Amino acid sequence: MKELTVGLAERSYPIIIRQGLLDEIGNELHRNPFAKRYGIIADDQVVALFGERLLASLKNNGIEAEIITFAHGEESKNLATVAELSSKLARLGFDRKDGLLALGGGVTGDITGFVAACYMRSIPFAQIPTTMLAQVDSSVGGKTGVDIPEGKNMVGAFYQPKAVYIDSKVLQQLPESELLSGLAEVIKYGVIYDRDFFQFLERNLKNILALDLQVLEDVIAWCCKIKTAIVEADEKESDFRRILNYGHTIGHAVEAASGYKLAHGLAVAMGMVAVSELAVLKGILDSREKERIERLIHDFGLPVSIPPEYDRARIQEYLLADKKAIGGKLFFVFPTKIGKVMITDDVEAELILKVL
Ligand SMILES: NC(=O)c1ccc[n+]([C@@H]2O[C@H](COP(=O)([O-])OP(=O)(O)OC[C@H]3O[C@@H](n4cnc5c(N)ncnc54)[C@H](O)[C@@H]3O)[C@@H](O)[C@H]2O)c1
Repeated sequence: MKELTVGLAERSYPIIIRQGLLDEIGNELHRNPFAKRYGIIADDQVVALFGERLLASLKNNGIEAEIITFAHGEESKNLATVAELSSKLARLGFDRKDGLLALGGGVTGDITGFVAACYMRSIPFAQIPTTMLAQVDSSVGGKTGVDIPEGKNMVGAFYQPKAVYIDSKVLQQLPESELLSGLAEVIKYGVIYDRDFFQFLERNLKNILALDLQVLEDVIAWCCKIKTAIVEADEKESDFRRILNYGHTIGHAVEAASGYKLAHGLAVAMGMVAVSELAVLKGILDSREKERIERLIHDFGLPVSIPPEYDRARIQEYLLADKKAIGGKLFFVFPTKIGKVMITDDVEAELILKVL
């Protein structure tokens, strides 16, 4: 078991990481309640896997709760779902003394956090992440929101949860593709922030892929610790928090060029290799360091190059659109060595084309 604290003054909260925790959340909420009654928000797939277990854990502790579901997938991460969930809460009589529990992946966490931020001008919520990506990244830090046709995560709020409850055991049910997608973000932390963690991943690769729960718990705790340090330093992404976007500038463009058919994590993996190559071409990163990054990404079973069938012109178009959206400058997070990065917009278009 591991417990961390995200230290944000009056918005501070614990991250509790324990195998089997899903069945003990009732006890946790009994000891440290943050609401009178809880709305468990989960997508249809997650509710079928874990909904009843969470509900039973709450009821066994005399805690009142309701399950509220929506259809799984990124397509649900929109304002219509926010309206639908809010109406369901209103019809169930939820008021400002009540709270929400986001049971699921990043989609559920982002939607639930946003509903919590808006419903009755805000009610408290907690995160119970069930995908690798959500356990190591999206459940910590208070970024909530939904997509609109004009772009992903365009409407949202910074709104911190009251607690994050992580049970590594639930990952045993996760499809391999979802696990891999989350592992790309895990590798990201090693490159941007912590050389020792990168080395730990190299040494423990086999155990991680075999879902050794103890090693997984160590990986999750390490990632949460890094994310916590970054969020504490820059809660609202004015500058430093942008280092989390390593691999994402090119990754997003590849993802968009695939019509969002390519999993986010796989696109990020390609983006991490591509931007590391860019850093080598700019003379910022030693090529042996780049090869080590590429090898780890490859050994985890993630892609290291953008498939030839992806139209380079389209990827460039998406990069340009991104550039326009963020004030005319395209920022890249360059590793300067494993464990350290710099942010720059000083990259020639020809170099970008070359790595693509
Ligand atoms: N808020 C942030 O800081 C932040 C950071 C990174 C990503 N995100 C967001 O996270 C979202 C992606 O999250 P995701 O990859 O977790 O996707 P997701 O929430 O859609 O989950 C992926 C799929 O796995 C299923 N699932 C969840 N847990 C399971 C389990 N234990 N066993 C079996 N199936 C399970 C879900 O039903 C879903 O179909 C994106 O919308 C992205 O924008 C947010």
